[in-house]
Amino acid sequence: MAKKTVFSGIQATGSLHLGNYLGAISNWVKMQEEYDNYFCVVDLHTITVPQDPEILKANIREVAGLLFAAGIDEKNSVVFIQSYVKGHSELAWIFNCVTPMGWLHRMTQFKEKSEKQKDEVSVGLFDYPVLQAADILLYDAHLVPVGEDQKQHVELCRDIAQRFNYRYGEVFVLPDALIPPVGGRVMGLLNPEKKMSKSEENLNDAIFLLDTPDEIGAKIKRATTDSQREICFDQNRPGVTNLLTIYELLTGKSRTEIEDHFSGKNYSVLKGELTEVVSESLRPLQERYRELTDEKGYLDEMLARGAEKAGEQAERKIRQVHEHLGLRK
Ligand code: AMP
Ligand code: TRP
Repeated sequence: MAKKTVFSGIQATGSLHLGNYLGAISNWVKMQEEYDNYFCVVDLHTITVPQDPEILKANIREVAGLLFAAGIDEKNSVVFIQSYVKGHSELAWIFNCVTPMGWLHRMTQFKEKSEKQKDEVSVGLFDYPVLQAADILLYDAHLVPVGEDQKQHVELCRDIAQRFNYRYGEVFVLPDALIPPVGGRVMGLLNPEKKMSKSEENLNDAIFLLDTPDEIGAKIKRATTDSQREICFDQNRPGVTNLLTIYELLTGKSRTEIEDHFSGKNYSVLKGELTEVVSESLRPLQERYRELTDEKGYLDEMLARGAEKAGEQAERKIRQVHEHLGLRK
């Protein structure tokens, strides 16, 4: 039986952190053999808010390199950069012409992001979910592994596909979001009420995948806890629960095992052991990242191959879309 197709995208807004790794990338690595996968660095989404060109250039390469370093391989997956494949922008334009504005007005992420930006909000930011729909539908993806926050965008993508199919004939596969179970949500170290994020002003809130063991130790040391003694998973104590969750996700141990292990110990023991676990878990990834970026031209070659493979599929799909729309014979 043919494998199902997976598509997911990741922005190039800054260095990747432990939340991206535990909530997204490590799951992509684990499931990649089961599916045909496309993993895309969505640089056109990234520019929906202003970026410094030099920093953006570096971030795009870093994110792509980290995907390979984390274990995404060319045998099962196509890794590429969105702007290298023209079909994404073309299909987004076509979808603009079938998507009612009202659908986009309902998007909660737009409401949140535009509040932060006030007068500077671009048309692109409003249109962001339409481009995301184009990403997914170009590749006939069945499954879209994303965090909870992206569920609404994947539903919108289905609605766009359905409307297009209804008007112009069966062209698009209706995709489903694949959301990891709770626990795959890593919170900020300083503010454990909010999820760990790339754009957080305070860089000590996140552990980045390329942080050194010293940096990791310093950040974990500063992590918010509370004045209680017992070390246990407790929803009402977000700080300690977040540290334990990171420990759980990286060691694969059960919650009771972990609580027994830390029973009678204090926060500094937990923080010390967690530093060790995080540093050791990231070490192989960091080594691979160094190897593949040290070799000049290596990453560029992989990305060129990725763009070529993705481009072939995208072009086939665009042709089919044009035919159904009456743009071509
Ligand atoms: P983004 O950084 O927003 O481009 O997200 C890339 C992927 O990482 C998406 O699938 C997100 O849902 C996931 N992700 C981002 N932040 C976290 C977090 N703190 N915990 C778990 N998953 C996350
Ligand atoms: N909007 C997604 C995020 O911020 C990134 C993204 C863009 C994406 N295109 C996609 C995710 C297509 C899945 C599928 O996380």
